[in-house]
Amino acid sequence: MSTTTPAKLPITDYNPARDTFRQDFIEGLSRPQKQVSPKYLYDARGAELFDQICEQEEYFPTRTEMGILRRHLDEIAARLGPRCRVVEFGSGSSMKTHLLLEHLDDPVCYVPIDIAREYLEGAGVRLTRQFPTLDILPVCADYTSRFDLPTASRAAERTVVFFPGSTIGNFTLSEAVGFLQQCRELCGPDGAVLIGVGLQTDPDTLYRAYNDRAGVTAAFNLNLLERARRELNARIDIASFYHHAIYDRERGRIEMRLVSQREQTVCVGDQRFAFTEGEHLLTEYSHKFTREGFRRIAEQAGLRPARVWTDPLERFSLQLLEPRAR
Ligand code: AVI
Repeated sequence: MSTTTPAKLPITDYNPARDTFRQDFIEGLSRPQKQVSPKYLYDARGAELFDQICEQEEYFPTRTEMGILRRHLDEIAARLGPRCRVVEFGSGSSMKTHLLLEHLDDPVCYVPIDIAREYLEGAGVRLTRQFPTLDILPVCADYTSRFDLPTASRAAERTVVFFPGSTIGNFTLSEAVGFLQQCRELCGPDGAVLIGVGLQTDPDTLYRAYNDRAGVTAAFNLNLLERARRELNARIDIASFYHHAIYDRERGRIEMRLVSQREQTVCVGDQRFAFTEGEHLLTEYSHKFTREGFRRIAEQAGLRPARVWTDPLERFSLQLLEPRAR
């Protein structure tokens, strides 16, 4: 671990491993159901395409969450109380946090945590300008691993974990419980978790959100194969794969797939992976929850929803989770 202090930005760097793509890609293609972790969708090009997805008319989650946040900011800030230490996992460009920090009563510090140091530096410098008296204490780490939080110059009343965007839906259900447990431990008995949770809604709306007409989600998904070609020298006929996201109503989740149009072999180094016609590589789950379903997940992690805010169509929710009394 190292700490650097450029001007007012002390970054705690755990030097998270970033180059496991080759190993994980090969391991994922070796499974009976070929599957690669969604985290590999986000190289620089993937992150750019994801930002474009958020602007597509069909992709409602981002603007719906923003709407909920804007509408209920005063109540959210009142519920969180004064002098919070705000911790954000996978903070990216920290857009929504800006809104939250602006409304909180005398926040003590903001701890953005991200694996991408460039993001942390960019967002950290911007936020330092916008909030000159707030301690900004970025941590460069893989947020599914263990690490210590940096100490602020003032004592906080409460630690609040902020996890917007419904990224919790991209975990498997057991990973989601594990992640929430980690949040609970981190924020302690008096802390809170403010989290974006996608809700189960009309299947056609969900289907269209992940199969937009302009083909941006398709480009985002196919970029995984481009990345494998660029970074791993993989031999893949990308044009013979197509993007398809299905909504599995029973499991309440979107599955993003790359489907092979023909029988073919993908090569990574000296390893060969056969695809039959119609066989797919699974690249992402995006779970949508019922309120009750998410409550059960939170409870397994020792948390309970103290307040749930939704949009009028109940497609998305922002939930305030607090530790359950033991
Ligand atoms: C980042 N995550 C919450 C997005 C989602 O909706 O599950 C990722 C995404 N995949 C396709 N479109 C958006």
